[in-house]
Amino acid sequence: MAMTRREFVAGSTGAFAASRLITASAASPDPSNPAPHRSRVIIDTDPGVDDALALLLAMRSPELIIEGLTAVAGNVPLDLTLPNALRMVELAGRTDIPVAAGAGRPLVRQLVTATYAHGENGLGGAFFPEPKAKPTAQSAAEFIRDATRKHPGEITLITIGPLTNIAMACTLDHELPRMVRGLVMMGGSLSGGNITPAAEFNVYVDPEAARIVFQSGIPISMVGLDVTRQTTLTDQHVRTLEAAQNPVSQGAGKIARNAIKHTREQGFLVGPNMHDSLAVAAFLDPSLLEWKDYYVDVETTGELTAGETLGYSPAAGDLRRTPEMEKQAALTMVIRGSAPTLATMKTSPVVRNSFVPNARVAVGVDSARFFDLLIGRLSETTKQLARDWRD
Ligand code: BDR
Ligand code: CA
Repeated sequence: MAMTRREFVAGSTGAFAASRLITASAASPDPSNPAPHRSRVIIDTDPGVDDALALLLAMRSPELIIEGLTAVAGNVPLDLTLPNALRMVELAGRTDIPVAAGAGRPLVRQLVTATYAHGENGLGGAFFPEPKAKPTAQSAAEFIRDATRKHPGEITLITIGPLTNIAMACTLDHELPRMVRGLVMMGGSLSGGNITPAAEFNVYVDPEAARIVFQSGIPISMVGLDVTRQTTLTDQHVRTLEAAQNPVSQGAGKIARNAIKHTREQGFLVGPNMHDSLAVAAFLDPSLLEWKDYYVDVETTGELTAGETLGYSPAAGDLRRTPEMEKQAALTMVIRGSAPTLATMKTSPVVRNSFVPNARVAVGVDSARFFDLLIGRLSETTKQLARDWRD
């Protein structure tokens, strides 16, 4: 499927990318025909099979000015996620995009990886040669700080790995949260986890970092398992990628083919899910998803629940409230911590005195339209993409 610029703008009323129009300055897929209005992003990533496809989707999306990629340890250690990110910019012919090395481990925990899902090399076992491109001299946190200060109010962070780098950047520069435009995250869940019954992988790996980010004041859009569980890659998707004659779709097809094979070898009957591509797509076209405001916090101490994202919403789930009561609840709802033990305090600690949403959470998705966008953009030629954008 080719999304024309006209369709894109029409289909994304309230879209981040379309509503935050800025003048193009970086290279677009066809430098002789730059897209007229584009949005600045930094993508923080731990490639990762679904990260790899998400990065390729982003690099094939003319709406985006990708200021840089920042790599973080997650699915596999940093000494693999960093070269994998460099491999993807080479595959997409986008070595103009800087890639910065980030944290090699979570803030306070030991690294837990997901090689069971992504293979030992992070790309489902798909082989790509050593990248020639080199990372920037700056660390990821420094890169995020400098790019944000250069373009205050313009940059959206798209995070598709553990949030260590973003938390470090916020700690490095306390003004950063109010200087970034927003953050679109693949992470969290309000309906159970994947790495534990309670926690989604990216938040589980570094819950302390996730908590810093959720409490930072950055406007957050959370694309969690509630919706990414509905993004199962199929054989048919892979065949479409393999049939297209361009290096990106061939590379994506190779990763996807290996990932399906690896997933079946691990005993899974379906999958993998394209979690991270959905976060990129959510930025490109938020109308793919249904959104609800929540106050989200992260459990960091629970023995069984570390990394769980808790969503509080006076409007969610309680059908007995009248709209007037809901309005009242939003103003007066107190959010409490756990009940006190006999040995400690006499009352439950109040975490928030009133309900103030800090995140827009995706609660529904049009999976078919999402895959049209993902597979369409990966399998089109650069010329087709540029022509669609101009139409
Ligand atoms: C997330 O965890 C990782 O394994 C994926 O790349 C994705 O970012 C899904 O829980
Ligand atoms: Ca990821």
